[in-house]
Amino acid sequence: MKYSKPNRKIVIAVDGFSSCGKSTFAKMVAARLGYIFIDTGAMYRAVTLYAIENGCIENGILNEERLVASLDDIHIDFRFNPDRGASDIYVNGQWVEGKIRTITVSNLVSAVSAIGQVRERLVAMQQEMGREKGVVMDGRDIGTVVFPNAELKIFMTADPEVRAERRYLELQAKGEEVSRQEIVENIRQRDYLDQNRAISPLRKADDAIVLDNGGMSLEEEMEWFDNIFSTLA
Ligand code: DC
Repeated sequence: MKYSKPNRKIVIAVDGFSSCGKSTFAKMVAARLGYIFIDTGAMYRAVTLYAIENGCIENGILNEERLVASLDDIHIDFRFNPDRGASDIYVNGQWVEGKIRTITVSNLVSAVSAIGQVRERLVAMQQEMGREKGVVMDGRDIGTVVFPNAELKIFMTADPEVRAERRYLELQAKGEEVSRQEIVENIRQRDYLDQNRAISPLRKADDAIVLDNGGMSLEEEMEWFDNIFSTLA
């Protein structure tokens, strides 16, 4: 498909609920446009993994003070992985892409992402990564906080049961032993925490376009995107 508009590079913000397929969608859009794809959820997950591996979790509870005191020691970077067609995330030079999507990390990430100092650091990094535009960034607050002036904002949603089933199949394929029920509970809990945290809660930006991809194939999602994109001035 050839795009005629817009000629300039833009920022595309993709926000929405957990396990909506935001990253898959954003990655495909980025590949279509030759843009950089940035998964900001991976950044919150990477900080959570650091917290787990460095004594900031005690009896399943996050020691917020200790994590905040460690923030200067956490260096995150992305490196392109041609096999995945996307960038892998590294913490202090260590490849952690394979460790950040476990249910253990998923159960703790909402607490980590509710900390103001964590958000401040990661938002600043995200803004720097999108400074030159030509990015598709997915997360929860991209259209509201990180890039409130993004030229295109998409808000993704789907029924929690549909999302849980997708996440279940994904984790099963990776060999992780986890029940459907545990995933449904995790998704419902994260939906609640993401929408109700004090700082940068998940909400649709007023100018975002809603994509409910519940019954849609990836091909249909791309058709939907092509239509939207072709209307941009
Ligand atoms: O997209 P994900 O499920 O991998 O994100 C993991 C968690 O990180 C999610 O529960 C909320 C948080 N998050 C956030 O608070 N802000 C973002 N921009 C991206 C993710």
